[in-house]
Amino acid sequence: MSEKKILVIGCNGQIGTVLTRALSKKYGPDNVIGSDIAKPNEPIDFIFEACSVLDKDQLLSIIKRHNITDVYLLAAYLSAKGEDNILKAWSLNIDGLLNVLNFAKDKIIKKIFWPSSIAVFGPTTPKTNVEQNAITEPTTIYGVSKLSGEALCNYYYQKFGVDVRSLRYPGLIGWQSLPGGGTTDYAVDIFHEAIKKKKYTCFLSAERSLPMMYMADAIKATIGIMDSPSEKIKIRTSYNISAFNFNPKELALEIKKYFSDFSIEYSPDKRDLLASSWPNSIDDSCARNDWDWAPSYDLSQMVGDIILNLKRKYKEELI
Ligand SMILES: NC(=O)c1ccc[n+]([C@@H]2O[C@H](COP(=O)([O-])OP(=O)(O)OC[C@H]3O[C@@H](n4cnc5c(N)ncnc54)[C@H](O)[C@@H]3O)[C@@H](O)[C@H]2O)c1
Repeated sequence: MSEKKILVIGCNGQIGTVLTRALSKKYGPDNVIGSDIAKPNEPIDFIFEACSVLDKDQLLSIIKRHNITDVYLLAAYLSAKGEDNILKAWSLNIDGLLNVLNFAKDKIIKKIFWPSSIAVFGPTTPKTNVEQNAITEPTTIYGVSKLSGEALCNYYYQKFGVDVRSLRYPGLIGWQSLPGGGTTDYAVDIFHEAIKKKKYTCFLSAERSLPMMYMADAIKATIGIMDSPSEKIKIRTSYNISAFNFNPKELALEIKKYFSDFSIEYSPDKRDLLASSWPNSIDDSCARNDWDWAPSYDLSQMVGDIILNLKRKYKEELI
């Protein structure tokens, strides 16, 4: 029987949808609890509890009732949405994290996963091969909250021995779920539109290159860092991780290999400005050296896998 009892907070989001199922498969459906403010809209293979991460009392009662040991905290205001809701973004991203960190400080839970983002970097950071300790001067409230969250994680580790682990995710692309208001959402939307309409209007400019990763690799990294022995986790702010970089034009060319009549137009909006402050590529050698991280998918393998799965999914929906 698994000794772990896992709670995923924000289980219905882009990452939560995939991560909660992966954890349920690994640890068993009775050992994984998903919570969110919204109900799941697809069949689930874990226990669901409706709860806001900001409701400390209800969260505590769920944690105690299920004897939770590990919490994966995914609930957050993302980059594009956050700019229109500065106070709400700060509150969800920081107060939610503090609630969970304090449960670990009080020894109610044992281990925490909390994702940061490449949005901690800003215009003063070098553009390419950004190192672990490069300048972090973000210019979005999302980036500011992620950078503050990293400092909080490190502080709770240093001062109270809280075992919190974190990754700076790049833009994540998967076929199972839709994104929730980030700046890299185009790289998911484009696949659905390519299959349904054979054309897409992109809100980033053609040459806007960003660090990206296939969802399968993000899940691998997340479970990988949580499974590593504590002494291997030397960075307690958040680890750089990386897979590949591309711009919308390069992604469209890959998609065209499967749909020769696919066309793309560009209508950059304010999200293009947010993206312009972020790096083009990330150096993740610390994660590779410390806990053996390595991605499995390159760009063309990811595009092939997504198109295969989405074609199947849309065909099943039509039957
Ligand atoms: N998706 C990416 O490309 C990406 C990149 C970098 C970092 N991240 C980080 O990964 C984490 C998860 O991102 P995501 O893309 O899955 O986000 P998402 O917006 O798709 O999902 C967030 C989920 O949290 C839920 N939620 C919102 N408020 C809540 C609350 N008060 N209590 C409980 N649940 C609440 C939402 O209903 C949603 O299901 C976030 O911390 C995000 O900053 C994501």
